Amino acid sequence: MDIHFITNCEIEPEVDCLIIPAWENEVHVAINSSLIAVEDQTSLNLINDRGNMSGKDLFYLPTPMSAYRGILILGLGKKEGDLSHKFRNATGKAVGLLQKYKKHHLLLELEHTPDLQTRHFVAALNLAQYEHTAFKTKASETVKVDNLCVHICPSKEITIEQGKANRAQTFTECANFARDLGNAPGNALTPKILADKARELAKVTESEIEVLGEKEMKKLGMGALLSVSAGSSEEAQLITLKHTHPSANKTVAIVGKGVTFDSGGISLKPGKGMQEMKYDMCGAAAVLGAFKAICECNAAINVICVVPSSENLVNGEATKPGDIVTAYNGKTVEIYNTDAEGRLLLCDAMAYTAETHKPDIMVDVATLTGACIVALGHEMSAIITEDEDLKSELIEAGSQVHERLWPLPINDDYKALLKGNDADLCNIGPAYAGTVTAACFLSNFTGDTRWAHLDIAGTAWGMKGCSYINENLASGFGTRLLAKWLMNISE
Ligand code: BES
Ligand code: ZN
Ligand code: ZN
Repeated sequence: MDIHFITNCEIEPEVDCLIIPAWENEVHVAINSSLIAVEDQTSLNLINDRGNMSGKDLFYLPTPMSAYRGILILGLGKKEGDLSHKFRNATGKAVGLLQKYKKHHLLLELEHTPDLQTRHFVAALNLAQYEHTAFKTKASETVKVDNLCVHICPSKEITIEQGKANRAQTFTECANFARDLGNAPGNALTPKILADKARELAKVTESEIEVLGEKEMKKLGMGALLSVSAGSSEEAQLITLKHTHPSANKTVAIVGKGVTFDSGGISLKPGKGMQEMKYDMCGAAAVLGAFKAICECNAAINVICVVPSSENLVNGEATKPGDIVTAYNGKTVEIYNTDAEGRLLLCDAMAYTAETHKPDIMVDVATLTGACIVALGHEMSAIITEDEDLKSELIEAGSQVHERLWPLPINDDYKALLKGNDADLCNIGPAYAGTVTAACFLSNFTGDTRWAHLDIAGTAWGMKGCSYINENLASGFGTRLLAKWLMNISE
């Protein structure tokens, strides 16, 4: 989508819809003070006669005689609470109307709503227009917006606005890249195919990449990770991408769970809904998406993006409950439940990353526990960390992009629940506090690196509360949050 700004009132001939955002009871003000619409008294009268001038909701009026052919009043509702979220949500809803009327060249009137930013519009538009069509034989007939012209106040700096808009565009395209990975079925995205996708990403972003196969991982002693792939004929992969910047003063590792299908293994999951476990690599998708965004913005920070990837299946070589394995850092783990596999992948990946790359900070992202859905539903993800500064930075970045995080606790009482009978650790806790005990398990593998864990089990797909994210598809949760946070701490 091409985005450009104007400060005059000349309407380009291709424009096919004028969009006027307005808060509740402020539609008249918005329209009357819109330099463009005010000249079109006929349309204004029509809106008055036929329309809903409350600003509570959307209202579309065809104006075939006008230069812009149609007006969409983007009713934002009451001007209170999270205004950015309301703006994105209204935009998300508008996409349905724009598609119905086949609009593709928009003129967005922002001159008189300075607190509302183009980037929210761009983000919601790009996310709402996302479709997953890779496996459909019939081409999509949806008309998408290819051109956005934004009318802003002459006092505003066009270059600054353009920069913000471009960044929103990059972030959301990268989120959609993550969504493509998330939505791919298990047979189209095995660990090796995921590694190939990462190689392509390394190529386009000109970053370094390392991919370890099972032989190398065995040599390195990654017994926990390998215990997950033991039951599958697809080879596990440990993918590491590296973005460096000459003026970076920090190195951050982002680690994402890449289980391309989770059947549970010998601790087999129930059949109902098991197809959803193709999404069990959404943590990997999130970190790859964020890595792409950071490279495209050439952020002044070093970023190590790590994806341990495996299937979790069952064959004669599959790991059995009770088996004891030795992780990369030498700790022994008794596997009580083969369905708690994410932590087994992450623990080796994290210990290896901490030792090899010595990052200042490490954040892992994973669809780790069903318990997280019980705790927080599909609206927010969990953050668990003992680092208060890191916690507030991540929560703040999340609220900026509306990928919200809610803290759960971690301390020695919970950590004690992961002690093994016959080994140092066991891989599951008791029947309660499942999200917390999963994080406690991981805390044994971070060395002394500052670390935060994000559990996105409830939000990676089926996410609720955002009109611009299709609930039936992967959400891309984590990409924009991590990209925003990395940009924030690099600036
Ligand atoms: N991938 C699942 C977690 C999950 C479940 C994510 C449902 C999203 C929706 C994970 O590997 C898993 O199976 N965890 C177990 C852990 C348990 C055995 C301690 C779980 O949550 O049931
Ligand atoms: Zn599992
Ligand atoms: Zn899993």
